[in-house]
Amino acid sequence: MTVPCVRVPREDGEKTRTILADRDVIAKGHEITVEEGSIYIPVTDPTAVPSACTVVQRDVPARHTQTMPADVLGFEPSYERLGEVVILDEDDADRTRDIAEAIMASDLPAETVLNRASKVKGEQRVREWDILAGDGTEAIHREYGCDFAVDLADMYFSPRLATERHRVAKQVTAGEQAFDMFAGVGPFVIPFADRGATCVGVDVNPDAIEYLRENARRNGVENRVTTIEGDVREVVADYGNWADRLVMNLPHSADEFLETAVELASDDCVVHYYDIQHEDDPFGPGERAIREAAGDEYDVAVETRRTVRSYAPHELNVVLDVRLSR
Ligand SMILES: C[S@@+](CC[C@H](N)C(=O)[O-])C[C@H]1O[C@@H](n2cnc3c(N)ncnc32)[C@H](O)[C@@H]1O
Repeated sequence: MTVPCVRVPREDGEKTRTILADRDVIAKGHEITVEEGSIYIPVTDPTAVPSACTVVQRDVPARHTQTMPADVLGFEPSYERLGEVVILDEDDADRTRDIAEAIMASDLPAETVLNRASKVKGEQRVREWDILAGDGTEAIHREYGCDFAVDLADMYFSPRLATERHRVAKQVTAGEQAFDMFAGVGPFVIPFADRGATCVGVDVNPDAIEYLRENARRNGVENRVTTIEGDVREVVADYGNWADRLVMNLPHSADEFLETAVELASDDCVVHYYDIQHEDDPFGPGERAIREAAGDEYDVAVETRRTVRSYAPHELNVVLDVRLSR
């Protein structure tokens, strides 16, 4: 499709572009092009350009600019993306609706917009959602080269922990035996198996276990992943002294599972212990609980103390990497 363009010698291009911009006649939907020493500036109204300008009809490419939600709204909304699901955390109903509409009108690849309708709760750490656009709560999320199917209505998953999970996954070596005591849909287990570890993932939520199995297949690591449904304290009899690496991502209550962790640990085992504690002493309670559970059986060396994120005012989500050596 041809559009009217002002043609000027290349050396006059910027000066002319400024004049046309001041008159607000540049056609922003098309590219400015250069050919054989001339610049072609697409214009919306050939009669509005200075009379000294030469206007020609020319075939120029359409300009591909992305419309973002902020372009529609006039302010920058905050949201997270999980595949084609966009997640909001808004309180005001009108503002929430406006943001959802802007997201769907924008060029973001969004199929669904969800708003957090409760905190994560209960043993399975699942939250309620309001579906604002699209339908369903299932997403396919890509994280550091692995794909995860997840249904947010039925199981826990947070994209915010991606960097932390990657930090841990990078420590994993081929052939080691890794045990995730609270595995969810597998965001630790799958990348560990992808690096050649033999993995066991336990979860009390049957839906999470179903998705963990599906995710192992999806990423081609099902041969190295064993899944077990149930309370980890009750289903690990076959794995005593087995784990070279343990993941304990159940902040708030991981200390209740340390006895089981010690049963699972091999002679030399690294435990990744997640906790939520007051900022005044974020690592102390976890470290003391681990030392008490290990007793005389293991030497305990804390290799990393790291703040993962701020959880609430004065409360931190932290991780301890702890080596247990028998
Ligand atoms: C905070 S989520 C972490 C899931 C996953 N590791 C992740 O990072 O996304 C905790 C998980 O532990 C599971 N869980 C809670 N209590 C459990 C128990 N006693 N035994 C096994 N799994 C449990 C929940 O169902 C939930 O999926």
